[in-house]
Amino acid sequence: MCSNLVSRVLILAWLSAMTTAQTVTSQNNYKDALSKCLLFFEGQRSGKLPPSQRLTWRKDSALKDGSDIGRDLVGGYYDAGDNVKFNFPMAFTTTMLSWSVLEFGNSMGADHEHALEAIRWGTDYFLKATSVPDSVVGAVGDPNGDHTCWQRPEDMDTPRTSYVVTKEKPGSEVSAEIAAALAASSMVFKDSDKDYSALLLKRSIEVFEFADKYRGSYGDSIGSGVCPFYCDFSGYMDELVWGATWLYKATNTPDYWNYVRNNIVGDITEFGWDSKHAGINVLVSQWAMTDANNSSPFILKADQLVCSILPESPAQKSVTYSPGGLLFKPGGSNLQHTTSLSFLLSVYAGYMKANNKVVDCGNTVVVTPAKLVDFTKGQVDYILGKNPLGMSYMVGFGQKFPQKIHHRGSVIPSIDQHPQHIECHGGDEYFKSNSPNPNLLTGAIVGGPAENDTFEDSRSNVAQSEPTTYINAAFVDAIQYIHQVFRIKFHLHHLITLLHTIREHHAPSQWTLIFPNVVPIGGVVVGMLEMYQYVLCLLSGRVTSLESLVCVTSRQVLSSQNFNDKIRNYTLYLLDFLGVRPPSIACTTSLTSA
Ligand SMILES: *[C@@H]1O[C@H](CO)[C@@H](O)[C@H](O)[C@H]1NC(C)=O
Ligand SMILES: *[C@@H]1O[C@H](CO)[C@@H](O)[C@H](O)[C@H]1NC(C)=O
Ligand SMILES: *[C@@H]1O[C@H](CO)[C@@H](O)[C@H](O)[C@H]1NC(C)=O
Repeated sequence: MCSNLVSRVLILAWLSAMTTAQTVTSQNNYKDALSKCLLFFEGQRSGKLPPSQRLTWRKDSALKDGSDIGRDLVGGYYDAGDNVKFNFPMAFTTTMLSWSVLEFGNSMGADHEHALEAIRWGTDYFLKATSVPDSVVGAVGDPNGDHTCWQRPEDMDTPRTSYVVTKEKPGSEVSAEIAAALAASSMVFKDSDKDYSALLLKRSIEVFEFADKYRGSYGDSIGSGVCPFYCDFSGYMDELVWGATWLYKATNTPDYWNYVRNNIVGDITEFGWDSKHAGINVLVSQWAMTDANNSSPFILKADQLVCSILPESPAQKSVTYSPGGLLFKPGGSNLQHTTSLSFLLSVYAGYMKANNKVVDCGNTVVVTPAKLVDFTKGQVDYILGKNPLGMSYMVGFGQKFPQKIHHRGSVIPSIDQHPQHIECHGGDEYFKSNSPNPNLLTGAIVGGPAENDTFEDSRSNVAQSEPTTYINAAFVDAIQYIHQVFRIKFHLHHLITLLHTIREHHAPSQWTLIFPNVVPIGGVVVGMLEMYQYVLCLLSGRVTSLESLVCVTSRQVLSSQNFNDKIRNYTLYLLDFLGVRPPSIACTTSLTSA
């Protein structure tokens, strides 16, 4: 007992000397939140569901989408609590999920596969929506018909109208956002599925050309299908530049880069399904930061974004904060702003760190990457329950979460419970009921609390209680960053010193007390897997230098006497934690058979 205590104190001392401590419980919470956040997308699936579907209360739906125009448009996502497929926000969602995987995929563990599935569910559909040259499907499902009824997707009998933009009736924003999604996802699948990746990229190039050549807003062309729900208020130039930015990242073709530089305009503080401006500056900064000739105006604008958000910055703010600390912007579904802006800042932090950059906001407020990560963590923690109500805004996460979300499928009993058809107004009684929703839409993040940190758990308070795909997509990004920084990465030099100390002073039976604490700080970082391999090697006494880091832990080491059961168990725990499947690392086979 006493030595346990000593170990703990020792570790605490080490941790607090190096960083703000992060407990294992909350690290696991981040992993859980990420898994659930991705699971949500299965609940939004339209079309024929695969056998791997995990939210099983959802069934096949909208299997004839596209038949009104003689095409197959089955698949894709329902946008929010309704059953319409709005391709503009759906494409933004897909772009964001792809960005997340491109930034953080390596540290996603088992959720990497689920993230790829979530992206592919979007891209398979976008390939259908763009299969006819010089035309792009902008939405499927008459939104007014859909919004009149309160029906399960599986029962829908409202018009499933297909809304298509063409040369004559263009829609540059929806087309360019789809091009962005296809370009970003082509990079995601580059290693795992080359043919698919090539197909996505080819289509992206064609769709971008269509978007750029035939300019116009889809609100003017197919307004009855998309307005006032997803009218593009910020114009379509931001989507064209955003699309070109992703195409430049995917192809390195100078033409796209010139397009970006020649057309970059406008507002710098907005980022969401409508406006891409701030996202463009941050994305471009990844390469512009290393190239002084190409850094203007992107870096300056991204810096201004940072200073317009951080509470301590003296600059004029583009956001406000609730007394409990949640970021707010005007309009409904506030958490869409919180998640997307937090994500941008955390991505920017990564680029800053890689280039030893800080942001000077004036008045001696100098923002380091660590500061931005802290900020994101604060917002993520608020969403997950560290707030005045002690309530998580993610369904199924924590003890207390929204019970009456505004979502047709979640509110009405499932097909399993109630196989009979429920017609247009048949769902109204469930909407009005005071009971919690019968179907848990696990992982759904709702619009969120009011600006005074209160939350009315009510289906009719749409702004607060409706989930949307783009909130979750941005949250995957934000939480992934936190997950990575606070759990997967280590400061190598400090850790090595720590390990040496542990080895000298503690018996192997005490090691497991120590390892669950990770050391999340800046400086030299490596992936947890490499670190763990090193840890194993070090503890077994076979390596003492950094150069041997890649001495992949051998079966020999693992079966050596130094590795008692606890270490073995801990290894299994860690591998599971990381989602490493047997062939991925050398030692796993003997471990699983142990
Ligand atoms: C930047 O531009 C200057 C002036 O045109 C040129 O001399 C220099 O080589 C450029 N630097 C890079 C990295 O391209
Ligand atoms: C908090 O804000 C909401 C929405 O604006 C309002 O309805 C409610 O009365 C406020 N509650 C308190 C305690 O101020
Ligand atoms: C290892 O894990 C197994 C299964 O969870 C457990 O029964 C056993 O007690 C553990 N051994 C040690 C030494 O912790």
